[in-house]
Amino acid sequence: MDEIQQQAGGVSYAPSPPGEFCGRQEELEQISAVLSRAGEHGQAVMISGPPGTGKSSLLNRLAYEVQEPPGGRQSPVLRAEIFDLPGMIFSAFRELLNDLRRSAASARFGGILDAESMKEAVRYADDVFEKYAAPVEPVGLLPKTGEEIVGVFARSPEVGYDRVYQAFEELLGELGRQMSMTGHVAAVLLDDVHLASSHDRRLLRDIVNGLPPGILLVFTCRTEDNAGSGYATMREEIRDLGIHEVQLSGMQRHEIRELGERRFHFSIDDAAAGLLEESAGDPFRLIACFNTLRDRGLAPSRENVADVIAGATDPAGLVFAALPKPTKAWTEELCTLNPPFPVPVMACMLDLQGAGITPTTDRLLESGMFRRLPDGEYAFAHPLLQEHCRRELSEDARVALNARAADCFERSMHRLPGRLHALLSLAGHLFHAREYGKAADLNLEIGLRFHHREDHDTALMLTERAVVSAERLGDDVLLAAAERQRDVIRQKVSGSPGAGR
Ligand SMILES: Nc1ncnc2c1ncn2[C@@H]1O[C@H](COP(=O)(O)OP(=O)(O)OP(=O)(O)O)[C@@H](O)[C@H]1O
Ligand SMILES: [Mg+2]
Repeated sequence: MDEIQQQAGGVSYAPSPPGEFCGRQEELEQISAVLSRAGEHGQAVMISGPPGTGKSSLLNRLAYEVQEPPGGRQSPVLRAEIFDLPGMIFSAFRELLNDLRRSAASARFGGILDAESMKEAVRYADDVFEKYAAPVEPVGLLPKTGEEIVGVFARSPEVGYDRVYQAFEELLGELGRQMSMTGHVAAVLLDDVHLASSHDRRLLRDIVNGLPPGILLVFTCRTEDNAGSGYATMREEIRDLGIHEVQLSGMQRHEIRELGERRFHFSIDDAAAGLLEESAGDPFRLIACFNTLRDRGLAPSRENVADVIAGATDPAGLVFAALPKPTKAWTEELCTLNPPFPVPVMACMLDLQGAGITPTTDRLLESGMFRRLPDGEYAFAHPLLQEHCRRELSEDARVALNARAADCFERSMHRLPGRLHALLSLAGHLFHAREYGKAADLNLEIGLRFHHREDHDTALMLTERAVVSAERLGDDVLLAAAERQRDVIRQKVSGSPGAGR
């Protein structure tokens, strides 16, 4: 664990492994203090801060401390990450459930989690989640006319939001009871809730409101994001719930020196550390700056630091300026995809076949620009890198890459496990590729499903795409149908509490 995570392309931009985590002692102590109270009353903590300040890294370190304190009691940690594809109804919560199942299967927590009542609560929650997602989650994907692919949706018994909440509440209640009996606290960790849809946030808020003893819930939330309102909305929604907030900002001088030493073997003097603290103190910028220094073979003196950070207003720009050509080409080819990237789609985008896939995915990881997710899918090592790469694409390249992505999803569809993710990705790629005929049909159809599922925000976004597509096609009949659907949903959005993100 203490081995330095050295990459061919420099230190990775992925969240810090716990063994390389530096500083943030005060913040960890604040969370520990909350943790020590969680046995008596369930507790929630929000870790907030601007992009790249180390929220996900802090969550990693916390998971490590709860799970594996040397010689101490080992407690279960359930962890999930939210990604920026609207409409993935409760996928992070289902991920938590899967994590719980994995923990229960591992010998380490076997004793704590194999009570029959616990297994029953897991089974029940799983069943309810499945039924709730059914109207939007296709059971199969079939060619419709020619190559067109649509989802075949199950007509399952209707399960409403209340049943989902109740099942999850019971699950956490049971988990908390098991923890209390054995003197443990289970940590439930959720990364990036600023990306959650209003539906997900509603579940989160309701859960926080009734957290049972034995449970610590920690979630991270970016304070500035491109969509603008994630943090503000979240804060408003949880204002009265007594949640502890741990705010992260740039690193202090001693933390910067520690980071240089631990992750780069740099010995940083006070003058250089002072300059970094003032001008580039967030960990993402620090990693970008130190990688650049090392890449150029420069010592970390104040002058060299000043030289590197001069003109680098966007730290991701600094990273891209130093990238070797092949790595840069991979980032461009993959940046229009919505994480998590399924391997078959990634291979198709990079034009890889059979034996070529594994060596290339290994090199993607070695570059420090990508990371592998627990389920074997991939993402950019850091969202700031993907956001930068998307911004830099020319209009023509964006259209062409979306067309390729749509084609890759259509070809790989039958091999992809995440059906909802695949279908929503396809709907987006077709639209951005300006393939308006297919885009109108698919977005209108899925939009209607989300409307029935009461995820009105997502329904509206999809239906608006159908309206634009119909306009571009000049298809008046389709346009009238799409506008009708849009108007019905708009009425719901303006009428439903907490909607309209
Ligand atoms: N305490 C730390 N010790 C060592 N490295 C860190 C620390 N905090 C962050 N880093 C490094 O800084 C970079 C950004 O960190 P991280 O991804 O945790 O930020 P974030 O706040 O979660 O960003 P975002 O808002 O985009 O989610 C990563 O490369 C990570 O490895
Ligand atoms: Mg993060």
